[in-house]
Amino acid sequence: MKILGIETSCDETAAALVQDGRHVLSNVIASQIDIHTEYGGVVPEVAARSHIEVILPVIHQALDQANTTWDDIDGIAVTHGPGLLGSLLIGTMTARSIALARHKPLYAVNHVVAHTFANALIPQTAGFTPDLFPLLSLSASGKHSDLLLFESPLKYRLLGQSRDDAAGEAFDKVARLLGLAYPGGPKIDQMAPLGNPNVFKLPKANLGGSYDFSFSGLKTAVLRQLQAAVGGDFRTHSTEIPARLTDQQKHDMAASFQQTIYETMAGQLHRAYVEFQPKTVVIAGGVAASRRLREIVSQQIPLEMNYAPMQYCTDNGAMVAALGYHLAQAGHSVDPLTLKTNPSLEV
Ligand code: KG4
Ligand code: ZN
Repeated sequence: MKILGIETSCDETAAALVQDGRHVLSNVIASQIDIHTEYGGVVPEVAARSHIEVILPVIHQALDQANTTWDDIDGIAVTHGPGLLGSLLIGTMTARSIALARHKPLYAVNHVVAHTFANALIPQTAGFTPDLFPLLSLSASGKHSDLLLFESPLKYRLLGQSRDDAAGEAFDKVARLLGLAYPGGPKIDQMAPLGNPNVFKLPKANLGGSYDFSFSGLKTAVLRQLQAAVGGDFRTHSTEIPARLTDQQKHDMAASFQQTIYETMAGQLHRAYVEFQPKTVVIAGGVAASRRLREIVSQQIPLEMNYAPMQYCTDNGAMVAALGYHLAQAGHSVDPLTLKTNPSLEV
């Protein structure tokens, strides 16, 4: 079964063809990072316009690279939330139109859930076969941080989520204080090995046994300690900080911040592992591309850990198609005339 996956929830226009929920035949991603770097973050109106410009070429390229015609495609899966409204609309309207015109079943995918399915695209956990469940997933990206427990591919529950900033969002904001361009996660990942993680003592939120996350206090602590490090106080404007920091201070803060946030995330994952005893543990989302997070998780979880390659961790169409395959198997298609987008769609 071949499913076309379409993803436009934020700043990547992506389409992919995946066979049987596990074999990636093509995975085309048009990133808007260059456009948004200029503004230091994603500008929703600019993102939506850019999706309109490239969505059809991206889909055609996904078909061409997979050597596939419309006749060979068994269904279309599309992200309909959560995400930016204008961006989601371009993907869903395109998918709805194609489904109607080509008489294909349409499957509505939750972006947060789809991230976990990046792990169904690697040989070790191919297709998420029943023997892998229960499966525990830590999914962290620019917009969300969630702990999910899957009993089967389509039966899952949310154990915890971020009460304020998402992990990736905290990375992007701290990166800006260090004078690093958007997106900050990969740049902090590169800079952190040059610093000492014990120089800055940063707080971990105590949420009283819950599986939720909270990163906004950590982010404020970084700001206050950097203000102090440059000899200022709480009135020192954040835009003045990068130029007044030494390279060593930047490296030490990158290392300290990264260590604190990853220990928090891996700690919650480990607690859930102990409580629920899953057969498989995976990590997902853009932040899961981090080498250091993978090291810390591998140290904490006493199972053989497998990690998806970078291009499946950040936003892509293949993870959408992989979840779409399971929706197709279960016969969960939606009406292309009425499918709605939902920017705040919950798990
Ligand atoms: O999943 P994703 O591509 O998009 C959203 O759904 O938001 O995640 C993007 C986020 C950004 O905040 C980026 O800074 C972070 O993932 N990120 C990383 C790495 N690569 C991307 N964070 C840490 N280490 C990385 N290597
Ligand atoms: Zn995402």
